[in-house]
Amino acid sequence: MTNPSLLILAGDGIGPEVMTEVRKVIAWLGDKRDLTFDVTEDLVGGAAYDAHGTPLADSTLAKAQEVDAVLLGAVGGPKYDDLDFSVKPERGLLKLRKEMDLFANLRPAQCFDALADFSSLKRDVVAGLDIMIVRELTSGIYFGEPRGIITEGNERVGINTQRYTESEIDRVARSAFELARRRGNKVCSMEKANVMESGILWREVVQKVHDDDYPDVELSHMYADAGAMQLCRAPKQFDVIVTDNLFGDLLSDAAAMLTGSLGMLPSASLGAPMENGRPKALYEPVHGSAPDIAGQGKANPCASILSLAMALRYSFDQGDEATRIETAVEKVLADGTRTGDLMQSGEGTPATTAQMGDAIVAVLEASL
Ligand code: IPM
Ligand code: MG
Repeated sequence: MTNPSLLILAGDGIGPEVMTEVRKVIAWLGDKRDLTFDVTEDLVGGAAYDAHGTPLADSTLAKAQEVDAVLLGAVGGPKYDDLDFSVKPERGLLKLRKEMDLFANLRPAQCFDALADFSSLKRDVVAGLDIMIVRELTSGIYFGEPRGIITEGNERVGINTQRYTESEIDRVARSAFELARRRGNKVCSMEKANVMESGILWREVVQKVHDDDYPDVELSHMYADAGAMQLCRAPKQFDVIVTDNLFGDLLSDAAAMLTGSLGMLPSASLGAPMENGRPKALYEPVHGSAPDIAGQGKANPCASILSLAMALRYSFDQGDEATRIETAVEKVLADGTRTGDLMQSGEGTPATTAQMGDAIVAVLEASL
């Protein structure tokens, strides 16, 4: 048997720093859990642009298509603000998602008890929160044609198109129902069927998939704006939320803040099964490249380490090891080791990125 393979694309900003901590956990899994991965590394985003003049080289995409899972750090930064749209760092990430056909983006928002006071909402509203946003990731307004900036008469017009086919809605709805069965068995679908035809079709298809194949799962529908409001009012009413690419982008950032810090949220982007039965997969933190703190050892590596845990669960059938990592992160936070994003001002000295990673490995070690 060959080892499972991982491609690390650390990217820009704090990406390389947090991925250094992820590598410590990967090394520990190899040493202590008999779980050895063949790890290769490559460039994405601005780092790839600097080296190759493109945010995703063809050779990098080819590697990503071959490995069992991709681990990504973050892309983007002010240095690249003036680049042509077609070579901006974000285009590299979007191309990976599109070319690998990673249509189901799983964004869990869990509030660790140790951080419940950290949320901008009251403790009792968020304590124990455990929801999963399933965001469609390869279609919708992010990719729809026509798009562009054209000139009409004497002014310019910016155009993007929201577009969903029945099969695109069908497959992401199935992902959501499958996940719900392994959790609280509830799905809430969010769109804007009151103003958008694509929303009307979305609602119809989700309902049909439910009625045909998942009648045992509780399904509700909500307009996405009302959904945003409910997420802030009473987030614990939700189990799985399924929504389109753009609404999912917004709602998942909002859900992330419920948990206290964007620095805590992992994600999995999954596609169809490969020949070996594993889904095409990319794992990345929900946070961005945070250029303001990059290179200073201040970044919180938890979201990236929790993304590795998601890889163990969804790509490698190692749910127990995933839980071990999640429990270790929770324990480290409860013990008081925290990066600056998880501290109130005047609360003492924040842990560095490396100290946080080391503390997580130490707790993993102690768990044996
Ligand atoms: C995300 C990010 C990306 C998105 C950006 C970096 C292209 O915000 O993953 O949520 O908009 O999808
Ligand atoms: Mg986003």
